[in-house]
Amino acid sequence: MHPKKLNLVAQLVNSCPKTCKIIEVGAYQCGTTIFMAKFLQRLGKKGKLFAFDTFCGMPAATDKDKKDLAYYDSGMFINNQIQKVQRKIKKEKVDSCIDLIKGDVAKTLLSGNFSETGLDLMLLDTDQYKGTSIGLEAAARLGIPQILVDDTSPFRSKPSN
Ligand SMILES: C[S@@+](CC[C@H](N)C(=O)[O-])C[C@H]1O[C@@H](n2cnc3c(N)ncnc32)[C@H](O)[C@@H]1O
Repeated sequence: MHPKKLNLVAQLVNSCPKTCKIIEVGAYQCGTTIFMAKFLQRLGKKGKLFAFDTFCGMPAATDKDKKDLAYYDSGMFINNQIQKVQRKIKKEKVDSCIDLIKGDVAKTLLSGNFSETGLDLMLLDTDQYKGTSIGLEAAARLGIPQILVDDTSPFRSKPSN
């Protein structure tokens, strides 16, 4: 993880209450999820983490993504099959505090299927417009007080005409 991101994530996790709930939207192989789980343990806090991802790669880019000079599209981030990620979490001994939620967040997060209350922090890192806007809508619906958005637009936008 980039040191600046690590620093921000650590500060936000540190600011969470002693018993807390964190949601990560766009978790990929759960590297950051595992870091947050272990850091909570180190701080003596009791945390529950919900990690959302397709666990089979990026959805197709939309026209909004394609306004960027470069953008993330289907076929990318495919190396994160849920079974493999689950094994990694188990090996790191944080499986009891991490729930993996598989699917496009347009279904798993937007529809209201996910109605967990008392969430303290959202890490929003889908790298695409759709996932980011759905994450922000969900954060408002669920009343999450702190949101860290990573790479809403990973590359500089094309100059507008
Ligand atoms: C940059 S990676 C996340 C990295 C991760 N947060 C970390 O720190 O290691 C972006 C992830 O977002 C996921 N993603 C993008 N759009 C999504 C969507 N609409 N629904 C679910 N997952 C999505 C991709 O599958 C990919 O694994």
